[in-house]
Amino acid sequence: MIFIFEINKKDYYNLKRNLEFAFSLPGPPILLSIVHSLQIACSYKGATHRIRRKMIQPLLNIKFLSEYVTCFDNYSNQCADILEKVVDSPTFDLKPHIKQYAANIFLETMMGIEGTIRNENDELIYWQEILFKETYNRVTKPWLQFDWIFLTENGRQTHIAKRIVLDFIYNITSRKEMKHTALENNNENFEKPKAAFDHYLNRIQLHNVTNESCMVSDENFIDDVRSFYAAIQNTIMESISFTMLMLGMHTEVQEKLRQEISFTFGNEKVNAQGLISMQYLHMVIQETLRLFPITPTVSRQLTGDIKLESCTLPDGCYVLIPIFAIHRNSAYWPKPLEFIPERFSSENSSSRHRYTYIPFGTGPRDCIGQRYAFLAIATIITNLVRRFRFATSNSIEDIKLISDIVLRSQDVKLNISYA
Ligand code: HEM
Repeated sequence: MIFIFEINKKDYYNLKRNLEFAFSLPGPPILLSIVHSLQIACSYKGATHRIRRKMIQPLLNIKFLSEYVTCFDNYSNQCADILEKVVDSPTFDLKPHIKQYAANIFLETMMGIEGTIRNENDELIYWQEILFKETYNRVTKPWLQFDWIFLTENGRQTHIAKRIVLDFIYNITSRKEMKHTALENNNENFEKPKAAFDHYLNRIQLHNVTNESCMVSDENFIDDVRSFYAAIQNTIMESISFTMLMLGMHTEVQEKLRQEISFTFGNEKVNAQGLISMQYLHMVIQETLRLFPITPTVSRQLTGDIKLESCTLPDGCYVLIPIFAIHRNSAYWPKPLEFIPERFSSENSSSRHRYTYIPFGTGPRDCIGQRYAFLAIATIITNLVRRFRFATSNSIEDIKLISDIVLRSQDVKLNISYA
């Protein structure tokens, strides 16, 4: 299933995922929500999307990811320690703590900033959410396309939000490491910095020495940090939230998962290999992202005609792929609103068309962070479920969905007891 709509190609520059047309689409509001703002290829001068993606991708390989798991473990245990204080008390909202987990793992794994900066993070997270909300408002409400309306109604908030988020990003990403020249660093004994964006900086410097035309500009760099911050903060936070809600509603699934965790780790600390080996955990996360694809739609502008059985899609037209609707389509998913992790067992998945499940998109612009996402989600779920039982009497229909640029649950209210 796809939505197709044609617009004047000249009106838009060559950014394939321009989103400003979305308000004209049919369908319930959820289908109008837009891909999270992760374009690492923007219109900035400097290196292309392909080059930057090629440089960033190795920083998310299993070697680096295994190191990040130590950090995920650390912050998820901090979160679990906080929950100790609310065991057996009335329903507790986990969401603020999940938010902080996401912010802290970004800061440490990507930027090398250790330790929690909780209060500042709260404000940052708040403004990041305002930014997403206002951006979404603008794309979905036609009247806000006019600057003179937007600037009076929502502009002030957006302006403040942009300033706060950008200032923060700018302050943590000033390229002060430039003094490590590529030549200095091109040394086998050089001890690599831990954070991904330090590595990225090194790669840029090496690249620029060997190939000056591939300069990743300061603007590119800051934009990439901003994209990763937005991605990690929002997608990780929401995926964990939905998974916890699903586990709270399906205590039998939670119990089965607890057994797998106990079998895999016993009382040991979590590690990447163990997490990757946990098939049931994988199925639980997959089923959660089927029901709640955090990026509910993606869009593309065609660069050539595409012939379909019934028609030809012309070059330049925009295509919206409604992941949310595909994932809940009963033609592919019997009992689509039921949470059944077993759908993703290898025997049940083998005959399914591969494009009926695309929470991370697909193709050359698919999600670069999917393995990072899996490990970050898996670590905290493992550490929470091994220590506590979570329950709620709510059902899937009770979840208050908010859709801005990403799909969100309003809260994660659960009853907590010891496992
Ligand atoms: C469960 C969590 C996540 C989901 C569901 C998700 C989903 C997606 C989707 C659907 C796309 C493709 C957009 C398109 O095709 O237009 C995408 C792109 C992207 N994601 Fe994620 N994402 C997640 C986590 C992350 C994380 C943790 C990171 C960073 C570590 C990340 C970084 C990116 C980047 C940089 C892109 C753009 C790739 C490109 O343009 O080449 N994502 N994501």
